[in-house]
Amino acid sequence: MRVLNGKRILINGKGGSGKSTIAALFAHSLNKKGKKVALLDGDPSNVNVLSRSCMGLRNGPLPLLEYLNLKYGNYTGITEMLFSEDHFKLKISEIPARYYLHHENIRLFQAGKISRDDIYNVFFSMILQYFNLDDETVILIDNKAGIEYFMHGVNENTDLIIIVVSPEYESIRLAEKIHNMCMEREIEHVYAVLNKVDCRSTENDIKNHLSLIGIDVIGTVEHNSRIKISMLRGSMINDPIAVTAANHLIMQIANRMLTSVFKQ
Ligand SMILES: Nc1ncnc2c1ncn2[C@@H]1O[C@H](COP(=O)(O)OP(=O)(O)O)[C@@H](O)[C@H]1O
Ligand SMILES: [Mg+2]
Repeated sequence: MRVLNGKRILINGKGGSGKSTIAALFAHSLNKKGKKVALLDGDPSNVNVLSRSCMGLRNGPLPLLEYLNLKYGNYTGITEMLFSEDHFKLKISEIPARYYLHHENIRLFQAGKISRDDIYNVFFSMILQYFNLDDETVILIDNKAGIEYFMHGVNENTDLIIIVVSPEYESIRLAEKIHNMCMEREIEHVYAVLNKVDCRSTENDIKNHLSLIGIDVIGTVEHNSRIKISMLRGSMINDPIAVTAANHLIMQIANRMLTSVFKQ
């Protein structure tokens, strides 16, 4: 498990596929193993979902956007700052406590909202570049949906990409696109997680399809009505079956990373 220390894990996939759910489950699983976790909520369209699902709290931390004194709508200020030396201010270890929530070994940060996608992408890739707590903390990044972040080098600042795939045509197609972009950029650690699967034969079909096109499927989180209820109530996701599935996925990731360390 030490192989995950200091690693940045970017979670992406189609909107609604379960990125935030998987991020919360991974955080719980790593926390239970005594790992330090930094969770970065990078989806400006779904604010506070992780404070609820991961910590059971209604309100999120103050956004990093505010910490950087970047005002909503002030795009000139944002671009100027991003290209100045000021972004070194983003040393996570120096960020005051009001910019994160703490629960056991988990710290939750929130990027913040910028309505213009292009500016947000640059801002977010900058955050990722300097988002580093210490060599022991595992960093989980709950990304927004889509693939445009690839244009802004987000992937260069991550060690591992998890594609969450739900049993829907668009989700599978997007997984293929993400995988292709990762291959073009020679990103080594790209793994798919199936989520919300409620039927064994569907699971096998999707797995076979993804494997055929070269996508490494590391496991499944089944459709789980307790997750749905937690998300509906805005309470913490801690269903033991789902956390057990997440434990298995984390083990798979660690094993693959270890194997590749030995290969080198
Ligand atoms: N394994 C699961 N079983 C049942 N419902 C799920 C599961 N994973 C996610 N969901 C539901 O799907 C919806 C979208 O999940 P979410 O994690 O917010 O997706 P994303 O972050 O990709 O947009 C949520 O309402 C959640 O209740
Ligand atoms: Mg989300």
